[in-house]
Amino acid sequence: MNQTKNVVIFGATSGIGRGLALLFAKDGCRIAATGRRMDLLESLQKEAPKQIVVFENDVNQLEETKQVFSKIVDAFKTVDVVVHCSGIGDENPALNWQTEHNTLQTNVIAAAHIYGLAFKLFREQQYGHLAAISSIASLRGNRHAPAYFASKAFQVNYLESLYLKTKEIKTGKVYITDIRPGFVDTKMALGNEIFWLTPLPKAVRQIYKAIRQKRRKVYVSHRWAWIALVLKIVPASLIKIFK
Ligand SMILES: NC(=O)c1ccc[n+]([C@@H]2O[C@H](COP(=O)([O-])OP(=O)(O)OC[C@H]3O[C@@H](n4cnc5c(N)ncnc54)[C@H](OP(=O)(O)O)[C@@H]3O)[C@@H](O)[C@H]2O)c1
Repeated sequence: MNQTKNVVIFGATSGIGRGLALLFAKDGCRIAATGRRMDLLESLQKEAPKQIVVFENDVNQLEETKQVFSKIVDAFKTVDVVVHCSGIGDENPALNWQTEHNTLQTNVIAAAHIYGLAFKLFREQQYGHLAAISSIASLRGNRHAPAYFASKAFQVNYLESLYLKTKEIKTGKVYITDIRPGFVDTKMALGNEIFWLTPLPKAVRQIYKAIRQKRRKVYVSHRWAWIALVLKIVPASLIKIFK
């Protein structure tokens, strides 16, 4: 990016969010990074202290999140990019309700809340870019982690709705990017049957490029686009045999 951009990253303490924060910083952007683990936020800030500001925030505390976002907007005056990386996912074959509930709370309620905060700001500004990490998991159900897979389908559909809603923005300068990783080498990579595990730096580079290019949606790594094509057409009865 050539000129300074103001970027907010929800879920920047580790994994993809942290990696993106460092790439935005390298490109001269100002970044507001959030998450619950303050020690990790402080260590991120040390990487580029003049550009990165940090805010401790649990996205499930909706009022707190609204206030944190509002503080960031006050400090930055305008926001160019909001990146949503805060997410959780656990295998839950026993359907333990607390696990399902926590996943839905973070990946559905808190995610929609953040999407809404970003979109409403961008509508007011008449420009801005919401980039959100959903998943290849959005495409089908899964018997080991039902809430996680369903929550990702929710995210994809909500993001598409916001994309359609950009029709209402006269300038045409509000963008929505839906990033759908396969397996990426972070603690979030679910399951025992992990294949095509993308190294974190490679995944972050591809995601960053897709954000810069304002892509509507992207699979990461790119070869997952082929898996997606198959997943979209294969009958559930076949998935039931193999998975
Ligand atoms: N890794 C994969 O294989 C993979 C594949 C597809 C999609 N994804 C998606 O990519 C996104 C990022 O995950 P990652 O792989 O980078 O894993 P990660 O390293 O575990 O990152 C998750 C981030 O979400 C934040 N977060 C979780 N719950 C939060 C809460 N209640 N409040 C605030 N922040 C919260 C975490 O921060 P704190 O814990 O410090 O709060 C952390 O910064 C997730 O949405 C995940 O579903 C990952």
